[in-house]
Amino acid sequence: MSKHRLTDVDMVEQADSGTDNGASSRAVNIRTFATLPAPKKTRVIAVANQKGGVGKTTTVVNLAAALALRGLKVLVIDADQQGNASSSLGFRNLADNQLSLYEVMTEGAALRDALLQNAKIPNLWLVPASMNMAGIELELNERTNFQQILGEAVQQLLSSGAHFDYIFIDSPPSLGIMTVNALVAAQEVLVPLQAEYLALEGLTQLTKTIDMLVIRLNPHLRFTGILPTMVTSNTLLGKGVLEEVRAYYGDIVMETVIPRNVALAEAPSHEESILTYQPASKGAKCYLDAAYELVNREEKP
Ligand SMILES: Nc1ncnc2c1ncn2[C@@H]1O[C@H](COP(=O)(O)OP(=O)(O)O)[C@@H](O)[C@H]1O
Ligand SMILES: [Mg+2]
Repeated sequence: MSKHRLTDVDMVEQADSGTDNGASSRAVNIRTFATLPAPKKTRVIAVANQKGGVGKTTTVVNLAAALALRGLKVLVIDADQQGNASSSLGFRNLADNQLSLYEVMTEGAALRDALLQNAKIPNLWLVPASMNMAGIELELNERTNFQQILGEAVQQLLSSGAHFDYIFIDSPPSLGIMTVNALVAAQEVLVPLQAEYLALEGLTQLTKTIDMLVIRLNPHLRFTGILPTMVTSNTLLGKGVLEEVRAYYGDIVMETVIPRNVALAEAPSHEESILTYQPASKGAKCYLDAAYELVNREEKP
């Protein structure tokens, strides 16, 4: 187990800084945290599962916040037209002249020009989604190499001198063009899996798609982990599903599991991550643990 595991001291320091006078009074002092080691090179991680409501966006937002609070520089790219990651990170509405992933994908805008900084966690950056992305599949269909647009934009960002330790790409609930772009742009894929009856069924389709992409478009893509989400391990069903997933996928399944936790569902309406909204909650603790585990799952050369 990681030597970087969360200590209770961290939680108490954070919890004590909270009052109920609104978000601004809960500013987080990042100096109270130990920093985590940076990866050797930027880790680009697509968070994907073609099922909706399994915890993709919750996982992206809270892992990104956890790592950024631990001193790493983190970018979230919101590749879902619904823009849930964007609003969870404080950008529900965009200024008229704000560039989004739409302009990056369709007009060749640079990711660098679409960056937004999180108000509470300065190390946390976002490239927002926009409603225009609803029609993007049709728009991009006619382009050659349309699967590689996001990958090229990410490479261009990194070679332009911008530095990020982690880039998370939040994908939509489909295996369409945006998810394929995310999987081609990434070196790693992380799959949140809602621990419920029949959870494994959709996973077979996803792993087939990933296998196909690895052969055709992105030989470097690797499976970083399956993160069980919304786990109710106090029920027999929840326990059984988890055991089944572990028996089938072995070590790919992360040790950390994310329980069902109401604070995790409330945080987005406050446009905050769980780490700043309710740092002492079970959800915050578990996403911090997941962040540490992710750091330890860096591929060894
Ligand atoms: N561990 C959890 N406990 C309670 N609610 C959760 C948890 N994870 C996600 N949710 C809630 O479930 C809904 C779906 O989660 P979300 O992350 O948006 O899924 P996806 O991005 O896969 O569609 C959201 O309302 C979210 O706030
Ligand atoms: Mg989502």
